[in-house]
Amino acid sequence: MFAVRYHRYGGSEVLCVEEVEEPHAGPGQVRIAVRATGVTPADWYLRSGMLRSIASVDFPHIPGMDAAGIVDEVGEGVTGTTVGDAVFGLVPFADQGGAAAQYAVLEAWAPKPQSWSFEEAGGAAGNIDTATRVLDALDAAEGMTLLIDGAAGGVGTITAQIARARGLTVIGTASEGNHAFLDQLGVIPVTYGPGLADRLAPLAPQGVDVVLDAAGKGSLAELVALAGDPHRVVTIADFDADRHGVRYLRSEAGQSPGWAGLPLAADLADHGRLTVPLHAVFPLKEIATAHDVSANGHARGKIVITVP
Ligand SMILES: NC(=O)c1ccc[n+]([C@@H]2O[C@H](COP(=O)([O-])OP(=O)(O)OC[C@H]3O[C@@H](n4cnc5c(N)ncnc54)[C@H](OP(=O)(O)O)[C@@H]3O)[C@@H](O)[C@H]2O)c1
Repeated sequence: MFAVRYHRYGGSEVLCVEEVEEPHAGPGQVRIAVRATGVTPADWYLRSGMLRSIASVDFPHIPGMDAAGIVDEVGEGVTGTTVGDAVFGLVPFADQGGAAAQYAVLEAWAPKPQSWSFEEAGGAAGNIDTATRVLDALDAAEGMTLLIDGAAGGVGTITAQIARARGLTVIGTASEGNHAFLDQLGVIPVTYGPGLADRLAPLAPQGVDVVLDAAGKGSLAELVALAGDPHRVVTIADFDADRHGVRYLRSEAGQSPGWAGLPLAADLADHGRLTVPLHAVFPLKEIATAHDVSANGHARGKIVITVP
């Protein structure tokens, strides 16, 4: 099969399309003919080698952590999914990638919502997993107000909509050019950066109950002050979390509590309550450009690769 691989750490020029051996579905897994796969910041963090002290990769490495496509192999013990089903889901974590390819193995998946294109579904699973873990860790419940720092990106847009569906009020930070976009998602927009507390005060006179730092731009001290308690704040992007008494959430190998969010999110999508805003869609051969656009740090929603 064809796949994108890299053989060493480096810039996006190390990505190349080549012939590789096909993967096969192991017990509890399915294999899909990939139609689309998401690009996440972790793809280029790993590729650049900047995370090698905490998350190295085995070379050659196929990037891509989530995907959508058509099931063409069903592993031992899998029930309820058959060859020909359209699904979206996550590749096995231990491999740290593998979806930017003709075929990929998934270890968690759900039926593709009718209302989503393959592009939308291909970029959804990772962010649904993250959003579910975040909202559960914060005990986010109906009636609460959630502040998301970094609401306009891939994680922010999905977390905000799932939180809205759970009955929360969501306030999200973004640059001013993204305020109308957030408003359309049912999110109250506010500009990030110094002075956030002053701008937030008229929007949330009672304060905020829980906070997600999805930006990792050094704002944890201010976010903790806004929440009034570090236990009401989680970050997925600031490695300095400990210093602020804040929980840093990361995906771990093995069954993720976020997997339960996949069928729930598909159901929300089928009821018109969850969209996957796409910043840009690139063909597989332009994956280097897709990594560079992600690294620019201003994606409005998700960046996705289509697989021919
Ligand atoms: N630990 C985990 O389990 C986990 C899982 C997924 C992702 N992550 C991490 O979480 C972070 C977000 O992921 P993502 O996929 O959402 O990234 P993304 O889609 O690339 O996020 C881009 C967004 O960041 C916003 N942004 C840029 N500078 C900002 C600032 N100073 N303050 C607030 N927002 C700012 C941009 O808004 P503007 O264009 O309006 O500036 C843009 O919409 C990344 O660091 C990623 O590695 C961690």
